[in-house]
This record gives sequence, structure tokens and C-alpha cells, in this order.
Amino acid sequence: MEVKTSLLDNMIGVGDMVLLEPLTEDSFLENLKKRFDHNEIYTYIGSVVISLNPYRSLPIYTPDKVEEYRNRNFYELSPHIYALADEAYRSLRDQDKDQCILITGESGAGKTEASKLVMSYVAAVCGKGQEVNKVKEQLLQSNPVLEAFGNAKTVRNDNSSRFGKYMDIEFDFKGDPLGGVISNYLLEKSRVVKQPRGERNFHIFYQLLSGASDDTLKKLKLERDFSKYNYLSLDSATVSGLDDAANFRTVRNAMQIVGFMEDEMQSVLELVAAVLKLGNIEFKPESRCNGMDESRIKDKNDLKEMCELLGIEQSVLERAFSYRTVEAKMEKVSTTLNVAQAYYARDALAKNLYSRLFSWLVTRINESIKAQAKTRHKVMGVLDIYGFEIFEEGDNSFEQFIINYCNEKLQQIFIELTLREEQEEYIREGIEWTNIEYFNNAVICGLIENNQNGILAMLDEECLRPGTVTDETFLDKLNTICADHQHFESRLSKNSKFLNDHSLPHNCFRIQHYAGKVLYRVEGFVDKNNDLLYRDLSQAMYKANHSLIKQLFPEGNPVKVNLKRPPTAGFQIKASVGTLMSNLQTKNPNYIRCIKPNDKKASHIFNESLVCHQARYLGLMENVRVRRAGYAFRQAYEPCLERYKMLCKNTWPHWKGPARQGVEVLMTNLQVPAEEYSYGRSKIFIRNPRTLFFLEEKRKQCLEDLATLIQKIYRGWKCRSHFLLLKKSQIVVASWYRRYAQQKKYQKIKHSTTVVQSYTRGWQARKLLRELKYQKKCEEAVTTIAAFWHGTQVRREYRKFFRANAGKKIYNFTIQRIMQKYFLGLKSKLPSMSPIDKTWPARPYSFLDGVHAELRRIFHLWRCKKYRSQFTEEKKAVYEEKLEASELFKDKKALYPSSVRQPFKGDYLEISKNPKYQKLSSAVDEKILLADVVNKINRANGKGSPRLFLLTKKNVVLADQKTGQLKANVPLTDLASVSTSSQTDGFFALKLKEGSASAIKGDFLLSSDHLIEMITKLHRISSMAADREKLNIDILDEFLVQFKQDKVCVKFIQGSPKNGNSVSCKRKNNRLLEVSVPASS
Ligand SMILES: Nc1ncnc2c1ncn2[C@@H]1O[C@H](COP(=O)(O)OP(=O)(O)OP(=O)(O)O)[C@@H](O)[C@H]1O
Ligand SMILES: [Mg+2]
Repeated sequence: MEVKTSLLDNMIGVGDMVLLEPLTEDSFLENLKKRFDHNEIYTYIGSVVISLNPYRSLPIYTPDKVEEYRNRNFYELSPHIYALADEAYRSLRDQDKDQCILITGESGAGKTEASKLVMSYVAAVCGKGQEVNKVKEQLLQSNPVLEAFGNAKTVRNDNSSRFGKYMDIEFDFKGDPLGGVISNYLLEKSRVVKQPRGERNFHIFYQLLSGASDDTLKKLKLERDFSKYNYLSLDSATVSGLDDAANFRTVRNAMQIVGFMEDEMQSVLELVAAVLKLGNIEFKPESRCNGMDESRIKDKNDLKEMCELLGIEQSVLERAFSYRTVEAKMEKVSTTLNVAQAYYARDALAKNLYSRLFSWLVTRINESIKAQAKTRHKVMGVLDIYGFEIFEEGDNSFEQFIINYCNEKLQQIFIELTLREEQEEYIREGIEWTNIEYFNNAVICGLIENNQNGILAMLDEECLRPGTVTDETFLDKLNTICADHQHFESRLSKNSKFLNDHSLPHNCFRIQHYAGKVLYRVEGFVDKNNDLLYRDLSQAMYKANHSLIKQLFPEGNPVKVNLKRPPTAGFQIKASVGTLMSNLQTKNPNYIRCIKPNDKKASHIFNESLVCHQARYLGLMENVRVRRAGYAFRQAYEPCLERYKMLCKNTWPHWKGPARQGVEVLMTNLQVPAEEYSYGRSKIFIRNPRTLFFLEEKRKQCLEDLATLIQKIYRGWKCRSHFLLLKKSQIVVASWYRRYAQQKKYQKIKHSTTVVQSYTRGWQARKLLRELKYQKKCEEAVTTIAAFWHGTQVRREYRKFFRANAGKKIYNFTIQRIMQKYFLGLKSKLPSMSPIDKTWPARPYSFLDGVHAELRRIFHLWRCKKYRSQFTEEKKAVYEEKLEASELFKDKKALYPSSVRQPFKGDYLEISKNPKYQKLSSAVDEKILLADVVNKINRANGKGSPRLFLLTKKNVVLADQKTGQLKANVPLTDLASVSTSSQTDGFFALKLKEGSASAIKGDFLLSSDHLIEMITKLHRISSMAADREKLNIDILDEFLVQFKQDKVCVKFIQGSPKNGNSVSCKRKNNRLLEVSVPASS
């Protein structure tokens, strides 16, 4: 679908001045400035393009841009020169209308650039093909050639066109270019011999000297140094940003493309060189005998070289510089030339030579680019004329006068055609026309070109008048004739208004052009209009042996001497401008109004007063007013409906009927007041920009709503597509998953089947195997039974032949052998004779277990017997005592283990030997079995007092330790029992039988270091006596002791640590003695 855009989209400022609201000069300038600041150099006034010179290259001329603007309607895109070119080209191609592009503006405003842009756009969009491309290339390449010869650096413009150019490009019915015709208008030839300060001669001179090879320069007899040539101004010989040498190559290349032959190019360069040489010819005065001054050439070298270049005989030219021949009615009068006249002749020749060369170049280019086919063709004319020019300080001369005249004419045609076009459109569309006031410059054109009293007519009259004619006489004439003209001002005119105007010098006149007042200096007007070249010089040129020169000076042919004066320059230009204007009027005009934003050739500077001045004289505001007088905006029904149809339900989204009806419905629906618009035949006309902006605003709102709608639908669509995709994906995933699951299930079933199958098979196989094995076993059993049976049979049969008892014997023998070996082995490994040695060798066979243990026991018993047999009677008694002690106390009293190691000495006191106890021993009378010191415990305080303790077979005797005096003699038969504790103490109580003689004094509580030995011995003696009962030994930690009448309890407790290791006895009360015994570790 084609995207419809509009100039109104994304506008910076207002793209079309017609829509400017409010329309004032300030808002007009502000809009231009705003757009210029945003690099929008193009703005429309209806179909007119205003172009501001950006003075820098902008990226808006790319091939992409060409494509963008191609085949698009004028108001569809933002303003651009391409839109105008496209519009012109399409209406030429499609509607068969000849077009002209009129580019106006002052010097440096960008006309030439604009014309080139138009041409390049048309070349880019028109047909293609080898032949067509060649034509295009030739048309485009004619520009650099003409610019080199016709453009120069001026103070206003580094590449100022110093001639007017109108180019007709011819197209066939398809719109393919066929060729072109160029017309040139009045080259500013005075520049060849003299340039204003800060300006240069035509580019070609500098290009030739900088860019030509040494060889070429040598052939042309030139030197590279600019300063060698009088005609070249030196103050701005090189221009920054202008590469003359490179441009020379471009020009040569362009000439080649256009179709110049090599020799033609050489001839052109020879002529350029000749002009430079000509400038170097200098004259000196020489007095003749008749008193007249004559001129002589100072240095003939330059003359010689020039003649050589052009193939002219030196003497002929020399003479032509010295004499002037005037012919009148068969009479020839020859007069000598003075120095001034000689210089005048030289310069006139140079100017003529160059301007004729330029015209020849144009003709030659035309020959090349001329359309070949004779068929009817369509034409697009591009007019690039030198811009309106005003020099300061009244330095304007004849050339400026002509240039400004041309611009005046162009302005007039612009006014006429714009108004006419507007009027025609209203008539065409059937809309009522309202008249508009505007300034018509026809009156100024009349002042210049009127055949009776126009300035040009008067100049011609003055030039043709016999008698003395000078610039002053011409001014006088003007003063008389034009005095009353409202646009003519002169000091000496009859109009007293200017008598005291000191800004108006006497030798000047001033014209109020449409673009401002211009002060012209009359000096040179007559001469330049006459444009005289002495016949001698043209004849000398004609005689040249140089084909091009000969062509350029046809009037020098003596055969065709024409005595009529050649037409004046003014006349010529008036005629050619006239032709041009009538030519333009037959075509459909397209306007490009170029504006210079500043005087400094600088980018980004917008000088408001300068732009304002240009906008004023170009009549841009009038242009807008005219355009808006009736209706500010118009648009064909189709695009209008297309743009605004969304504003009404009936027209949106599709309108079935004709576009006009659609628009009518739309406007009614929108309730736009009826006076605000009119319906033309093909267009709707909107009176006020406000109404358009109202529509635009509505459209913008609607677009936002539509955008939301589109967004909504798009989002819905996106979600739905996403959902569908998800659904589709889900189906795919599900199917894959199902497939996968089924596969898995199948594999599982397959696997299970295989397992079941294998189990079944296994079971079957095993069953078979079992059967087979059973079968085999049966077979083997049968075989074995059979074998045994056979064996039995055989053995039964052969038993009588066997040694029946061999087995038993062998067995016995083997057993004996084993036993023998066992005993021998045991003998050698017997343990030591110590009864406590517990070792015993291991038995070799388990069946010997019982024997082995028995042998061990026997061996031990034997070993003990052996050991015992070594004992003496005493030792034996000692051991028996020890044994008894063990039986009595082992594991019962904690004191026992410490007694095992103590030998039972018995008589510790060696009493029989001690004289102290002799008396005692004799009193005892019996054998003393034990004598020791004991402590008798005192009942009152628990303390012990030492006593001698003696034991005999019948008695226990207690005696004083010191004296040996007998204290008590207790017959063993009186003893009832002995009590002792289970602890490590040495306390014991000898308890007496109640009623015995000894019992009167009570029991004895004693303590001894040899308690175990004493009690053992007591027990042994009592047990050995056959008449006595066994003595009871009580081992208790609490027992009663009879002290005389009282029974006292002796209690043994585990001693506290402060008691240390000693046993202490304390009386607790009358009935309790507490013995604290250290705890056994
Ligand atoms: N569209 C443009 N883009 C970039 N530069 C431009 C453009 N138009 C003009 N210029 C610059 O301005 C200079 C002057 O432009 P141009 O020669 O077209 O002026 P002109 O109107 O033809 O002047 P004259 O009347 O003196 O011939 C150019 O050399 C170029 O540097
Ligand atoms: Mg130009």
C-alpha cells in the first residue's frame, strides 16, 4: 500500500508560507529563519520554491533523496527543489506541457547551483539507455565549460555567472532527453580587460595557467606566472576553495564529453592565450611631422608571439593598431591612432575576441547537444540569468544596467504569470475571482525599454546621432525626457526634487528598480552600447591563418563589406530579452526564488535585514497575499479525502462514491462553516489556514486514536498468533510426548514380555534340565547300583580271598604310632617343675583332648608332690599355718594380703633369751608358740597400752611390757571366740566364755601388728586339741566387747583423710568405741 504523506507532516515552522498565520513580514522572516536554522533551506509559496543559500553542502541531494521525491505529489513531502523539478518533469512528460524553470535572485543567491540541481534531478529520473545517457552527460557537462569561460570570482560570489543563460532541454514523448539548446545573454566582456577590486577575470585564464602542462604552455607561448599578464588582476588571483588546476582538467574532460575535437580545444586555448598576449602589448607616443601624435608598440615581442599563435601577419596587426580607416560611400579615409586610441583598440579587440569566442563556444556546444530527431518534442527551459546587482558608491555601469533590466523583465513575467496562473486556476475550477492589489513593475520596464522614450532607445538614438556624442549628452537627454518618470532620478533633471540630493552625483542617474534604487554612472554607456571594433582590426583578424579566428570576425571579409552600423549592444539585448520573454510565456512557469542569507558567504548566518530586503523586492509577501487572496489552500479531492477521511464515520475507512462527494460529506460532518471553503471542479479551496490547521489538528487526534486502535488490533493479533503458535506447539509437543510415552510403554511391555518369556523359557528349560538331570541321575544310579551290586557280588564271591582284619590292625598300628609320637613330643616339651607354672603344650589331635587334660593334671599333681617332698617338718608346719590363715582370712579381711609375704616367726621377742622376761617365761612354763607386743585398748579413752602377748598350747598370757609382770593368763578353753574387723586394722577382741574364771575381768580388746599370725595360731591350737571346741573367728565391722559388767560396741569405720594412715580408736560414749581405719587402696 502506498504511504500517503504530506508537506504538513513534521513541519519545521510552516512549509508553505501560504499557511502562515498570522501573515506579517515579521512572521514571514521568522518562519524562514526557523527553517534555515534547521537546515530547511526550501520553503513554498504555493508552487513557488524559496531557496536560501546554505553556503555549505547539505546531505539533501543524495540518490536516496532523488528516489524519495520521484513521482510524488508536490505537497506530499517537505519542500525541496526536487519536488519542483519532479512536478515540472512529470507535467511535461504526462500532460505534454512545455515547462520553464525560472530561477531568480541576486548575485550569489544560488541560482546556478539551483539550475544544476534541477538538471541533475531530471537527468536522474528520466529514461536510461546508452544513447540517452550520452545526451544527459553532454547536457550536464556543458555546465563546467560555460562556467569556466563565463563565470568569474566577484566580491559577491566566487563563481558568479557573468552571462545570462537559458537552456532548453528537449524530450521525446516518453520523457527521454533528446538534446538541448543554450542561449546566452550579454557576457560581461569588460571584465576581460579590467576587473573591479577584489575580483578576478574569467576563470579560464587562471585555470589555463595553473592547470595546463608545461608543454601546452610552451606551445601557447605562455608562462605560468599570473603577474606576467596585464589583464589578470593579482589581488585575488587565487581563491580559497577553488582549485584552478583541477578545474582545468575537469573543463578539458567536459569539452571532450561534449564533443570538442582536439584541434578545436587547441584553437580555443590559443585564443585565450592570444587575449592574454594582447593585454601585454603596450604603446608609446611618437610625434609625427604633421604635429599629430602617433602610437608605436613598445615591445613587439608579445605582438609577434600573438601573431604567431593566431597566424596573423605581424605588420597587418601592427598597422591596425596605428591607423583607423573609415569608409564612407566609396571613400576611404585613414587616420592615425594616438596612444589612448591604440589602447582602446587593443582592449576592444581583446573584449571582442573573448566574447565572440564565448558565443562560438555556446554555438559549438549547441551543435553537439542539438536534438537529432526531427520529431515533435517537449521542452523544459531552465533560465539562470545573472542576478540583480548593485555596486556601492555608484560604480554601476552599462553592464549592471543591462543585468538589472533583465531581472526587471523576469520579475515582470513572474508577476504576470503568477497572477495569471492563479486567475486561470480559479476560472478552471469555476471559483469566483477577487482582484488583488500588487506592485507591477511594468512601469520600470517601460522606463528602460520603451521604444519612444525608454532609456535604451535614447541611448541608441544618441549613439546614432551625427555630431559629438558623449556620455554627458546622453545624460542630458535622459534628464530631459525621463525627468517626470516616477522611477527615474537625476540631479540635473527638470524634476527639482533631486536638485539638492547630494547622494546623486552629476554624472549619474538613478533608477528605482523593483529591487531597490541603483545609481548608474553614465561614463562608458555610449561606448559600450556602440561596442565598436575598428574595421582594420576585424579585417586583420579575418586575414589570420587560423580557422577559428576567421569564423569569429566574418565582418572583416573585404568582399562583404557592410557599411551599415552593427546593432548596438542595448538593442541586441532588448531584442533577445524580448524573444526570451515571449518564449517563456508560452511555457508553464515554475519558480525558484533564491535568497542570500548573508553577505559573507558564510553558513549559519541569517541576516534578517538582508533577507527582508530581498523578500520585499522579490515581492514574496505579495506573492503569498495573491495566493491567499481567494483561498489559502487548495487540494485535489482525492488526496484531500485520503488525508482526512478518518475524521468522519461515513467516509472511514472507505468511501465508495466520487471523491468530491466524500469531501462534501466530510466537511458537512465536521461542521466547517460554509464560507470557509469552496468546491472547485477538481479541488477543494480552503479560505483560511486556520481551517486547514483545524483539520490537521483533528487528524492528528484521530491518528493517535487510530494508532491506539492499530496497536490494540496488532497486540490482539500478536497475542492470538502467539497463542495459536503455542497451541500448535502444544499439539506438536503433546504428539511427540505421546509418541514418546507410547514408545516407552511399548518398550516396557516388550521388556516385560521378554522377561516373562525368558522366565518361562528358563523355567521350561530348567524343568527340562531337571528332567534330563534326573534321567541322567537315574541312569547313573542305576549304573552305580549295578556297579555296587556287581561289586557286592564280586566281593561276596572273592571275600574269602581278602585279609579280613588288616584294617583293624592298620588302625591300631596307626593309633599307637600317633600316641608314641605324642608322648615323645610331650616329654620333650614338658613345662618347668615349678607348681605355679601354668604352661602346657598344645595337643596335636583333638581326639587326645581328654588324655591331654588328664596328663596335665597328673603332671601338676606329681610336680606338687615332688615340690612337697622337699619340705622339712618346720617348713611344713609354717605352710600349714599359712594355709590355715588363708582359709580363715582370704577374701574376708583386707589385712590378709599384706600378711602373705610375712613369715610367721612366732617368737618375735626371743623371750627365752631376754633376761628381762626370764621370770615371765619361767612362770609360763609351757612352750611359747608366739610372743609379741600388743596394745591393750583402754575402754575409757580408746588408747592402747602395750602388753606382752604370749601364746602357749593352753593359755594366752598378757604381761606388762616393761616389767614382764603377768597381767592375765587366760586358758584357751575359756576363750569363746575371737572378733576382728574385715578391714586393714590390727584390732581384735578375745571373747571369753561367760561364766569362766577368766571372764570376771571381761573380754580383751587388743591391737597387734601380727594379727593374722596370732589369730591363725590361736585357731590352730584350739582346733588341734581334741578336747576342745573349735574357736569361732568372727569377722565383723561391729561387735560387742564385754568390759567387766558393760558391753561396749566396737565399730569400725573407714577413716577420714585427716587421720592419715594410722588407725585411731576413740571413745564415742560409754557404749561405743569407734575405730577409724584408713581406707585400703
Ligand atoms: N544549494 C546549495 N547548496 C550548497 N551550496 C550552495 C547552494 N546554492 C548555492 N551555494 C553556494 O553559493 C555559491 C553561489 O551560488 P551560485 O553561483 O549558484 O549563485 P548565483 O545566484 O548563480 O550567483 P550569480 O548571479 O553571481 O551567478 C555557490 O558557489 C555555492 O558555494
Ligand atoms: Mg550564477
